[in-house]
Parts: sequence; C-alpha cells; structure tokens
Amino acid sequence: MTRFIAVTSGKGGVGKSNFVLNVAIGLAAMESSVLILDADLGLANLDVLLGIRPHRTLEDVVLGRAGLQDIIVRTDYRVGLIPGSSGTQDMADLGREQIGNLLHAVREVTKDTDFLLIDTASGISANVVAFLMAVPEVILGVSEEPTSLTDAYALIKILKRNGYEGRISMFASQARNSTAGHAIYKKISSAAQRFLDLQVEFLGSVYSDDKLPKAVKDQVPAIVRYPTSDIARCYRVVALTLLGQKSVGADLEKLLSRLVAMLMKGGRAKAMRAVSHNGEVLPRALEKTFQDILDEQRKTRILMERLLTAIEEGRGTSLFRKGSSA
Ligand SMILES: Nc1ncnc2c1ncn2[C@@H]1O[C@H](COP(=O)(O)OP(=O)(O)O)[C@@H](O)[C@H]1O
Ligand SMILES: [Mg+2]
Repeated sequence: MTRFIAVTSGKGGVGKSNFVLNVAIGLAAMESSVLILDADLGLANLDVLLGIRPHRTLEDVVLGRAGLQDIIVRTDYRVGLIPGSSGTQDMADLGREQIGNLLHAVREVTKDTDFLLIDTASGISANVVAFLMAVPEVILGVSEEPTSLTDAYALIKILKRNGYEGRISMFASQARNSTAGHAIYKKISSAAQRFLDLQVEFLGSVYSDDKLPKAVKDQVPAIVRYPTSDIARCYRVVALTLLGQKSVGADLEKLLSRLVAMLMKGGRAKAMRAVSHNGEVLPRALEKTFQDILDEQRKTRILMERLLTAIEEGRGTSLFRKGSSA
C-alpha cells in the first residue's frame, strides 16, 4: 500500500523541500520505491534543487494533455518527481471526468509505489489545510523560532478541530544538535497532548548544517553530495524512522480532489465545489476554516509564547492545570 505523506510547516524556509527530497532519496536507498510531488504552488522548487527542468506538470494531466507517466521525471537518485501545477489554470470548469482521469492515473502510478511524499506550501491557508485533512499522514517541520512553534501548534489545533484522524508527525528543523531538536519536539508534543489530547510522533532532528546551502547551490541533494555529513545522517535517520511506522490507509478520491483544488489557480471555493464528490467540502466551511486559522494563529501565538517561557523557566507544570487552555 502506498503511504501518502504531506510535508508542511507554518513558516517557509524551515527546510521542508530539502527534507522531502533528501528523505525520499534516503528511503529509495533503503529499497523503497518513492515518488515526490511538488505541490508548493508559489515556490515550487524541487526541480531547482534537483537541477532539472520539467516541461509538463500535473496540470497537463488534469486537463488531459498528458498521462501521469509522461510527466514523472525520473531522477538519478531512484526517486520520481511529479511536478506540480504552475497554477495558471482555473479549476472552476473542471468536471468529474477530469478528476476521474487523475484518480485513475494516480492509482496506476502508485500501484508499485511505497511512498508518495508531497511538498506543500508553507503558511497555513485554507486550501492547504483542506488538503491536509484528506491526507492520512502529515509531517510538520518545526524550528525553535517562537513563530515556527506557535504556527505549528496552531496548525495541529486546526486539524484536530476539523476532526483530523490521520497521523501527525514532526521533525525538528535546523536544530543545533539532538538535544535541541528533542526540546522542540517536547514543546509541541506536550502542548498537543495536554490541550488537544493528541499524540504527535517524532521523526528526528535535521541539524543546521552549512553543507545544505552548499548542496542547494550545486543543485545536488545534500544526502548525495555530502553523504557523510551530519545533515545526511539526519535525513537517513528520519527515513529509517518513517520505515518503522505503520502505514495509514487513504481515501484516495477525497485526497485527489482536494489536491487538484489546492493546485489550481483561481476561485478556490469554486474549485472545491467543482471537485467535491459528495458535497462535504463546502465553500462556507472553508471560509470559516480560514478565519479560524487566522484567529488561531493570533491567539495561539500569545498563549504559546507564555507557555514556552513558563516551560523554560521551570514553571511549566503550574500552567498545566485542569481547565487551562492554549
Ligand atoms: N538544516 C539546515 N541547515 C542549514 N541551512 C538550512 C537548513 N534547512 C534549510 N536551510 C536553508 O534554508 C533554505 C530553504 O530551504 P528549503 O528546503 O527550500 O525550505 P522550505 O521548503 O521550507 O521553504 C535552504 O536553501 C538553506 O539555505
Ligand atoms: Mg519549499
């Protein structure tokens, strides 16, 4: 069974795309078959990190101009790249048939795929959240910056409030060392456990390493360019941890319709209506989700900052009283 995993973060620049790419290569080196999907509309850059230039994107598949097999770029690292849409096409006119085509294509192509890692846009937006809701496994990249912590927590809270039932994991990004990385995890997981009654799994730390920007500049993945570096080891540990997790089943139809809605430009709400099969993705609900996110980010930031300070000052337990909420 294919594991569909979305990688996201509250903030950009945490190292999400490099994570997707390098962990994918790590998984492939451990005999998994892996596809990566660039679904970061604004800043699609997996191709840049790989030094390749795809000619066709998922949009061509949705519009029936190409088959999914035709657009997958086989890299030198036994990982296939599915280029996302360039976001030029308005989704509103797409019909069921086109979604059906995509569904069929993805079924075919993922038949022999162990992992589909999806690089999503940073910044919590309604259509990204709607998409995450349909993905059985979500990985959050979290750095020790207060805004990264609070945005990650806000995102987890939004998922929980909307009834998300999949797995939520995280990696500590740009950590100084494993202790620092684990501290980031403890902050997120204890808040999620205490206030949301939710388990967040830890995939490991990705250290801050100057080999990474060098590899990016060379357009060769760090795990390949610097295989003995700290950061390469971090990515391999994450890949191994992922392999140790049980897979979670996906509702493929829902997942794909929301993926398409997220990828295509223009009138997201309209797009949602166009691709929704059972009417459960309502534009109004989406608007509300979006408002929720903004409110949540604002509120949570203040509360989390207080909470984190308290934890650091060793007053954490006094805040974990019954009835308190963050
Ligand atoms: N672990 C790290 N160590 C050093 N630099 C990093 C690390 N992670 C990210 N960076 C820097 O941040 C830049 C953006 O990384 P990227 O993976 O594209 O982030 P995102 O996809 O989250 O926006 C990289 O080019 C690099 O310069
Ligand atoms: Mg990115």
